[in-house]
Amino acid sequence: MLDRIDHVGVAVEDLDAALKLYEDAFGMPMVHREIVEEQGVEAVLLDVGDGHVELLRPLGPDTPVGKYLAKKGPGLHHVAYAVGDIKATLEQLTAAGVELIDETPRIGIRKSQVAFLHPKSTGGVLTEIVQPAEGH
Ligand code: CO
Repeated sequence: MLDRIDHVGVAVEDLDAALKLYEDAFGMPMVHREIVEEQGVEAVLLDVGDGHVELLRPLGPDTPVGKYLAKKGPGLHHVAYAVGDIKATLEQLTAAGVELIDETPRIGIRKSQVAFLHPKSTGGVLTEIVQPAEGH
């Protein structure tokens, strides 16, 4: 049902410092950078093999990632799995008793469709389901 890990989301306070680590020290090419006002973040995608690292900088303290940073500090934020059909996957997960944060998919970066699962039903791991746009 979940095909592969699409990306690991990392909450950062300082995007330039994070890019120095991931681009320069880790050698991962940046492939996308976007401000997603709706989610209150500036997001950067870097390639690593078939997957990605997604760096998330909050646009303000009252955003979900801003609150996360205030509470837990920078670090691992979520894991995202790629699927072929996000609506069918969400139905299957609901039937399996998994609680959804997003009942219906919303638009993520690079025109993907995304939905988050509630960490209280996923063993404390904030989990994202992503159906990448064609070509990604
Ligand atoms: Co993500």
